[in-house]
Amino acid sequence: MAATQFSETSDKHFFLPADAFFTRHANTGLTYDDVTLATQFSDILPREAKLDTTLAEGLELHLPIISADMDTVTEHRMAIAMALNGGLGLIHYNMSEKQQLKEVSRVKNHVHGLIQEPITVPPNLRVGDVLEIIEQHRYTFSTFPVVDEAGRLQGLLSGSVVKPRYAERLVADAAIPRDKVHALKQRDLEADPIEVADQFFTDHPGINKLLVVDDEDRLSGLFTLSDVETITQEANAQVKPARDREFQLLCGAAVSAPRTDAGELDRDKLTGHVGALVDRGLDTVAISTAHGHTAGVGEAVRQIRDAFPTLPIIAGNVTSAAGVEYLADCGANTIKIGQGPGSICTTRIVAGVGIPQLTALYTASQGAAAKGVTIVADGGITKSGDIVKALTLAHGVICGGLLAGCQESPGDIVEISSKRYKQYRGMGSLAAMKAGSAARYGHNTKINSGKVAAEGVEALKEVTGSVDQVTNQLAGGIQSGMGYLGAADLPKLREKACFIRISPAGLHESKPHNVVEVKASS
Ligand code: XMP
Repeated sequence: MAATQFSETSDKHFFLPADAFFTRHANTGLTYDDVTLATQFSDILPREAKLDTTLAEGLELHLPIISADMDTVTEHRMAIAMALNGGLGLIHYNMSEKQQLKEVSRVKNHVHGLIQEPITVPPNLRVGDVLEIIEQHRYTFSTFPVVDEAGRLQGLLSGSVVKPRYAERLVADAAIPRDKVHALKQRDLEADPIEVADQFFTDHPGINKLLVVDDEDRLSGLFTLSDVETITQEANAQVKPARDREFQLLCGAAVSAPRTDAGELDRDKLTGHVGALVDRGLDTVAISTAHGHTAGVGEAVRQIRDAFPTLPIIAGNVTSAAGVEYLADCGANTIKIGQGPGSICTTRIVAGVGIPQLTALYTASQGAAAKGVTIVADGGITKSGDIVKALTLAHGVICGGLLAGCQESPGDIVEISSKRYKQYRGMGSLAAMKAGSAARYGHNTKINSGKVAAEGVEALKEVTGSVDQVTNQLAGGIQSGMGYLGAADLPKLREKACFIRISPAGLHESKPHNVVEVKASS
């Protein structure tokens, strides 16, 4: 038998697996910057590390990141971008039910590369009118499908004739007639529309627009060669979108637990709302509240579980094993962990309540293991290293602030002293609660600002670029962490992680120091 290496006993003394580590620090609430992970022997390269995670049956992600259900973070553009990058977006509920249904439909009907509502022109305009429209809207393209009042395809107005010399010509006369225009039937796009479009362009040299029509020849979309080429190149970049069995992007949405005037759970309203979302193809519903370990939230989860037995339910927020077990018993599949860690949260200051995130995750992970459910770390994530630490205990993370500065988040860019920002506000800020999220914090929806204590602030985030760029950076960071731990996938990361506490000086040492930084790393 081989002699025991000295390092085996020595390292075990310092770098402890989760159970031993958190038990040893049982009386201290720890968060991401309080600990660091020990490196371990590795036989994988970071780029080989797999980021797939299964939150529930039917909720399989290729990137363990979810965009928060906040009104300055996730609407359809963010949800589409997150799913295209392998993650998930949760559409917020500070909007009418009708609007939320529309947002979900936009995600579920999104075909990457297919422009679903192409700009069209009617046949009775003159080419000069089209030139004016281009000027007015500053369009950067000049080829337009021609459709009649019923939306039926009449032809294609090519950019080569949209010129002042043809200004007096009728669009109907200048356009390529319908029988000479290539169009695919919507139903022929099959499981992989991009592959179909890509093949079409290969088979038809010189054509760079492909129209899509329904069975009544009504225009339903448009592919351009350049978009399809960009996407096929992206496919080699290893980003795998998160899709359902019908090849549609995954989409989640948050709902509140509505109350009747008598204060009871409005069961009909809740079931009706979730049912309408499910009809649109919703993949998971989130019951997001500040305090999920409550009779009210449990009742809402039970009601949804009874009405929709197979729908994945995300519920929260809690910070204890008991909270996780309670929501799991009510029927939730995935429990949100976090009370007060968020970058815009003031719950801990206002209410004096909340558990630092890593300790909360550890205790919650015990409840999750006991009940066979998954947990997601919600709030307080400011860098990819935090995500690696969170994923040693959780199955995914929810990010608000990290994504709020992306071009796909709702809201306009504001410029202050030549820096560009987007608004980011807590759902417990007064402004957000007035817009609808008061119930999340246990307040009446018709709030009177004089009596309600806000639990969030309104803030700005510097513009950070696209979701593709941000998630690529984060995924690269997570894979680096997994490479240092020799973890080929996320279950292995959870199994192998060993922790050690760090001192304030250790934290200082972890960041760039004693240099004049000329360029940030991201
Ligand atoms: P980050 O740190 O990613 O946090 O910006 C996003 C998460 O914070 C939670 N949230 C709030 N918590 N008051 C709170 O105490 C609020 O106003 C508030 N708004 C959002 C939420 O869990 C979100 O995912």
